[in-house]
Amino acid sequence: MKNSDYLYLDHAATTPMREVALKAFIEAENEGYANSSGGHNLSRKAKNILEESREQIANVFGAAPNEIIFTSGGTEADNWIIKSLFIKGISPNSNLVTTNIEHEAVLASAEWIKLNDYKVTFAECLDNGIVDAEKFLSEIDESTIVASVMLANNETGIVQPVHNLIKKTLEKNNETLFHSDVVQAVVSKKIDFHKIGIQSAAISAHKIGGPKGVGAMFLNNKFKLPSLFHGGKQELERRAGTVNVAGVASFAAALKEQQENFDLEINIIKKEKEIFETIIKDNFNVKVIGEEEERLAHISNIQFENINSEVLMVDLDLNGLGVSRGSACASGAQKPSHVLEAMGIGKDNINNHLRFSFGWSTDSGDGKKAANIVLNSLENLS
Ligand SMILES: Cc1ncc(COP(=O)(O)O)c(C=O)c1O
Repeated sequence: MKNSDYLYLDHAATTPMREVALKAFIEAENEGYANSSGGHNLSRKAKNILEESREQIANVFGAAPNEIIFTSGGTEADNWIIKSLFIKGISPNSNLVTTNIEHEAVLASAEWIKLNDYKVTFAECLDNGIVDAEKFLSEIDESTIVASVMLANNETGIVQPVHNLIKKTLEKNNETLFHSDVVQAVVSKKIDFHKIGIQSAAISAHKIGGPKGVGAMFLNNKFKLPSLFHGGKQELERRAGTVNVAGVASFAAALKEQQENFDLEINIIKKEKEIFETIIKDNFNVKVIGEEEERLAHISNIQFENINSEVLMVDLDLNGLGVSRGSACASGAQKPSHVLEAMGIGKDNINNHLRFSFGWSTDSGDGKKAANIVLNSLENLS
């Protein structure tokens, strides 16, 4: 639920939970509190809730139910896919090809593989924020066991040519597992994994009005992955640990409402973002990152000339507007954004950006209200 006194434009970090998701959580916990792996009547209830939710989520993404494995979120799914094939006994030439604009969940997993002496390539993006396809593809060889490119970037919203990259990657090596982090893309794009050709994906519930700490991995039936966790035989022996049935039911309910209201919500998000960007551009010297490219409807990353983003962010917060500098993990750490650095933004401007992210709880009028708060702060700070 949203807090109406404070204008929240940090939906890319997380979203308020939808009423239906809260309700589904409580109902599932009341009815299906038993362990979904047990053998009695109450366990069967929990198992039914779990499997119905799985089927519903799978349908949204054009997947088979057994291609959806529940996780604790996007980070776990990314870690699992990126790391799990790099195990003892594989060819020492085995390599991973990814990009330098991925979320930290992918980048840090890739660094871990490197520590284990496997080759990892972080293909660069061009200054427009789009992965350099030629460089990426030139790194794919017969030993590439995993390739990973996010469908859209969480800091800039810039959409990546994943369909094309998958096609060309598989032409070079049809054994490669092509992973895509779709955590942000799900917010404002309809996605069919099989149609795009994505073979595994990371999904997270809390970006679309579902609960935090719940997500899923999509894994094409063609592939088998060793479990990242060791323990029980849950999730068809692919992910050990008692399943968070209420969380999953809540995730399914949030996704259902998001899909049913998709056009309505995206139209408001698009309109409010456009109003916001237009007012800001008309009144201050700014650059909208990725403006020329295809961007997710909900993300607006803005560079303010001669304004330190940390200072601006604090002032906006004091004036009732919540935004962030980039990904939630990087903000607070005062570290310049690796995504903006990858786009060639130099040290003169690297600390002048804020990410404004709209979402399902955005209302008509929020774009203008936010722009006015920003302009007031800019006037105070200039
Ligand atoms: C692109 C992307 N990948 C992965 C994650 C991590 O997802 P989770 O918070 O569910 O672990 C996020 C969340 O910020 C994200 O934006």
